[in-house]
Amino acid sequence: MLGTLSVVVGTACPLKCTYCFNMTNLDSPVLQAKKESERTLAGRWTRQRIKRLVCEAKEVGYRRIMLTGGEPLIYPSTKMWIESCGDLNLKTVIVTSLLLISRSLEECLRDHVSNIEMRVSVGGYNQATHDRYRGGWEQLIKGLELLRRIGMSTHITVVLTRRILGEMSLFQAFCDEWGGVPNVAALSPGESSRVDPADFLETAARSEWDAALTVVSSRLRAQLTLLREFYTGGLKPKYCAMNDTSHVILPDGTLTGCFHRTDLLRGNIFNHSLATLLNSNAAGEPKPPECFGPNCYTIHID
Ligand SMILES: C[S@@+](CC[C@H](N)C(=O)[O-])C[C@H]1O[C@@H](n2cnc3c(N)ncnc32)[C@H](O)[C@@H]1O
Ligand code: SF4
Repeated sequence: MLGTLSVVVGTACPLKCTYCFNMTNLDSPVLQAKKESERTLAGRWTRQRIKRLVCEAKEVGYRRIMLTGGEPLIYPSTKMWIESCGDLNLKTVIVTSLLLISRSLEECLRDHVSNIEMRVSVGGYNQATHDRYRGGWEQLIKGLELLRRIGMSTHITVVLTRRILGEMSLFQAFCDEWGGVPNVAALSPGESSRVDPADFLETAARSEWDAALTVVSSRLRAQLTLLREFYTGGLKPKYCAMNDTSHVILPDGTLTGCFHRTDLLRGNIFNHSLATLLNSNAAGEPKPPECFGPNCYTIHID
């Protein structure tokens, strides 16, 4: 069984989050994809192509399709992905800032509510802490209200910075208030200097991690404990699902092994079937322990 097939629906996004690794990680395949203008990509993702790919994804054994970007909710094709996945009962996960939910998208979400999991990204737990890094607080709250109203399965993910680490009880309370499963994604500062060095998790003392662990529930405690050992205990991950059981499709149709590595490209799904590309040896072996570091502190365990 395979894990997640992530689809970078497009690279455009109305927000300009300070840490966004689509801009800060110079080796990001998504950043490379941005160089291709959105206009040349438009029109490639027809309903027929999306249906074909979802069908192939189901056949080769992926457990879910994850829509991300850029901001997936601004793309009309996102609705087609949701509908095609719904038709085949293939779980759809949407990673989003919740910035823009049109009427027709709202209807589509309602129609497929039992097949979708929303992973809502936040910068913090109130307007001031959210806007430190992101923006669009009011739309975010409106979006969370909608998800609650329609009974959507919701996760809330904060990018873990040193400041947020010191405010974990408030983040936990925010997730509890909205009924969202809490998650942290460790800040990957990338190669540019857009991220305030005071936010780097490398600067946090073990005592700061310990203090955070005492104020969160078991789910966050497990995530923070692992990260504490990565940052202060010399622990290296033994496994990462990316390139092994989980893969990424870029907006131009390229299938690749990971969001953070440009050396794992397998070919284009517009020219070959998914099964053919998955069986190609071009991608090499996954090497998570070596590539784990400044550009990625995310361990994908699917
Ligand atoms: C690139 S965004 C794309 C989807 C959507 N625009 C959003 O923000 O949810 C995917 C996820 O990556 C996270 N992210 C962006 N930059 C990051 C970084 N430098 N380190 C860790 N996570 C990051 C975002 O917070 C979001 O949860
Ligand atoms: S909303 Fe997502 S894609 Fe847009 S800038 Fe922020 S992290 Fe990046």
